[in-house]
Amino acid sequence: MDSVSNEGLPDEYQWFSDQIAGHHPSVIKNGKREIGLLKIPGSREILKPKQDASRGEKEVAIYKLLSSSSSSCPSSDLRNGKPEDVEMLRKLTANFYGIRRLFVDDEDREFLVLEDVTSDYRRPAILDLKMGQVTSDPLAKADKVEKERIKYPPQAVMGCRILGYRIHRDNNKVEIRDKEWGKSFDETTIQDGLCEFFSARDNELKEVLEKALIELETIKHFFETQTSFQFFASSLLFVYEGDVTLPINLKIIMIDFSHAFFSNGNRDEGYLFGIQNLEGFLQDMLKIC
Ligand SMILES: Nc1ncnc2c1ncn2[C@@H]1O[C@H](COP(=O)(O)OP(=O)(O)OP(=O)(O)O)[C@@H](O)[C@H]1O
Ligand SMILES: [Mg+2]
Repeated sequence: MDSVSNEGLPDEYQWFSDQIAGHHPSVIKNGKREIGLLKIPGSREILKPKQDASRGEKEVAIYKLLSSSSSSCPSSDLRNGKPEDVEMLRKLTANFYGIRRLFVDDEDREFLVLEDVTSDYRRPAILDLKMGQVTSDPLAKADKVEKERIKYPPQAVMGCRILGYRIHRDNNKVEIRDKEWGKSFDETTIQDGLCEFFSARDNELKEVLEKALIELETIKHFFETQTSFQFFASSLLFVYEGDVTLPINLKIIMIDFSHAFFSNGNRDEGYLFGIQNLEGFLQDMLKIC
C-alpha cells in the first residue's frame, strides 16, 4: 500500500497502510483503481468505502444497529435481531462513528467511519481470517457459488482461511503475507501459517495462544447462542503487540459485514464450525509449545 500514490485523496488523508485484505488501490478495474480504506495519519479512525448497492447498505445497516444504544433498541422489534444478540455482537466489533462523504479520484463517495482497532499498538501484528464454510451469500447465482467454492476448497473443510498478515518488526520493517500465500495452506498445514503470524512473540507463544483462545471463546459463545445474523465472507481480525517490551494486548474483532443477513432464528453454523476448528488448531499448537 505504501507504494500507491495518495494523489486524488482529500488533504490530510492517506491510504490506510495496515490494510490486509479487501478492495485495494493497487488493483485497477476497467481503467480505474479500486478504493481502499483511508486514514488521517495519527487519528484513531479509518474510513471504509461504502460498497455499491446492497452490499454497502447491508454493512451500514449492521453498524447503525450496533451503534444505536441498547436502550434505544426496541426490544419488541425482533426483525433486526434479538437485543441480546445485538448487544453481544456490538462488543465484538469496531466502534462505528457514522458516514462521511469525501471526494476521491474526483468522485463523491460515502465512507463508513470506524474505529481503527490497530491504532493502539506500537508494532501491530495483524491477521485477517475469512470465516464460514461458504463465502458466497444466499443471493448469489449458481456460477458465483461455484466460482467462490473452487477459489479455495479447504474453506469448506475448515470454515476459515488466512487472507494475509502484516507484522511490524524492528527497524520499521513490515513483513507482509497476502491471500495467495494464505491459499497455500489447507487443514493439514494451516498451523504453520498461524505460527508464522504469532512469531513476533515466539518466546511467549504459549501466552499469546492462551489469550487468543480466551478471545475466541467469547466469539464462540456468541455464535452458539445467537440466532439473529448470518455472515458470509466476513472476517476475524487478530491484532497483537509485536513490541516485546509492551503487553501482548491480543484482540480479535469481527469485521466486514457487506454480506451479513438477518437470520430467521437459525444459528450461523458455517461460521461456528470455523471457530471450532480454529480453536482446535490453536489448542494443538499450544500442546507443542
Ligand atoms: N476497524 C478496522 N480497524 C483496522 N483495520 C480494519 C478495520 N476494518 C477493516 N480493516 C482492514 O481492512 C481490510 C479490509 O476490510 P474489509 O474486509 O472490511 O473490506 P473489503 O473486503 O474491501 O470490503 P467488502 O468485503 O465490504 O467489499 C481488513 O483486512 C483489515 O486489514
Ligand atoms: Mg473483505
